[in-house]
Amino acid sequence: MRTLIENIGQLLTMDTTLRDFRSPVGGRVLGLVDDAALLIDGGLVRWLGPADELPPAMASGARRVDAGGRVLMPGLVECHTHLVFGGSRAHEFAMRAAGASYEEIARAGGGIASTVGATRTTSADELLQSGLKRLDGFARMGVTTVEIKSGYGLSAEHELKILEVIRSLQREHPLDIVGTFLGAHIVPPEHREHRERYIDQLCREMIPEVARRQLAEFCDVFVEEGAFSVAEARAILAAARAAGLARKVHAEQLTHTGATLLAAEMEAVSADHLDHATRADADALTQAGTAAVLLPGATFFLGKSRYPNGKLFIDAGATVAISTDYNPGSSYTQNLWLMGTLACTYCGLAPAQALWTMTRGAATAINRQNTAGHLRPGITADFLILDTADWEDALYLYGGNPVAEVYKAGVLLA
Ligand code: NIG
Ligand code: FE
Repeated sequence: MRTLIENIGQLLTMDTTLRDFRSPVGGRVLGLVDDAALLIDGGLVRWLGPADELPPAMASGARRVDAGGRVLMPGLVECHTHLVFGGSRAHEFAMRAAGASYEEIARAGGGIASTVGATRTTSADELLQSGLKRLDGFARMGVTTVEIKSGYGLSAEHELKILEVIRSLQREHPLDIVGTFLGAHIVPPEHREHRERYIDQLCREMIPEVARRQLAEFCDVFVEEGAFSVAEARAILAAARAAGLARKVHAEQLTHTGATLLAAEMEAVSADHLDHATRADADALTQAGTAAVLLPGATFFLGKSRYPNGKLFIDAGATVAISTDYNPGSSYTQNLWLMGTLACTYCGLAPAQALWTMTRGAATAINRQNTAGHLRPGITADFLILDTADWEDALYLYGGNPVAEVYKAGVLLA
């Protein structure tokens, strides 16, 4: 079954390089083609380019869809979420509005630990049902690939429960899902007096088991005061590497700990947050080929004033990605477009660069640089038609959703 999308006013292929990403020219960053057409065959992109160059024989007999002169671009890639959790932390939002800080709330037993409590008492089936709804929410926003972390179980039983839910989401939902083990989110309350026992369990039991059962592709660690030290994280990531899991690190979010240098040392695929990262950190990431994932929604929602400095990473030559960090505590939003706007306002990205980081950059941050986040012949036909004829509107009209239609593997999602 072939489908020809014609009358595309602006086609953004994102089939561009890191060098293009650093260019000040929007069209070059985006791989922009005006007055374009795109042919889908069997769920894959068969051809794309200027409409007047389409070989007539290729399109003959295809079903035709009129894009109405609007923008067509790759499906968004969401490279950092904590989507499987029980309970709500709306009351913490109210506490922060009244002046309490995220760190104070966590020290008083709220924060991540409170979601761990709620998630442990939520059944796998309930987590699956809420997870499916949340994925629908991302799909409506134009996201076609989603990374999901565990990390609200923090015992072998409950972490495996969450990872099984992620696997079920992979089977039951049309979006592409990438799983990450975040057993090292915090030390769970029952191990607080002897944290080395939990770290030992992570390294000797949980990580090997997750890898053996192929329940995750990545292993992530939250390095922060109140979470894990750099030395502890080094042991955990070494165990992950030995088990064959790729690495990710939550780094320099609330303070500077040195976690970015550890991410580089461990050849992590990404280092995420980076609000307090330095130029030396940016250079180390670039050297190691580790992507810099900026999460300005967490900075915003926690009411912090120091945003990650995107320019630092662009100037160093690193691959940059942005993400919502969707989770019940520090960033409860599914609006990746809004993150793009924040990245322009507070992180120093140009609008075209922000769009690249939400697609090609984010795909690179989850090892999907060859299969997601861009459009070219042979790739899965994951793309969006926006409700505008000008790509510059996408982040400028901010806080909404510019998506008119979402195609996953060539099929229009309802
Ligand atoms: O990415 N930084 C650690 N983890 C999450 C927050 C999780 C939570 O507050 O529940 C984050 O911001
Ligand atoms: Fe996170």
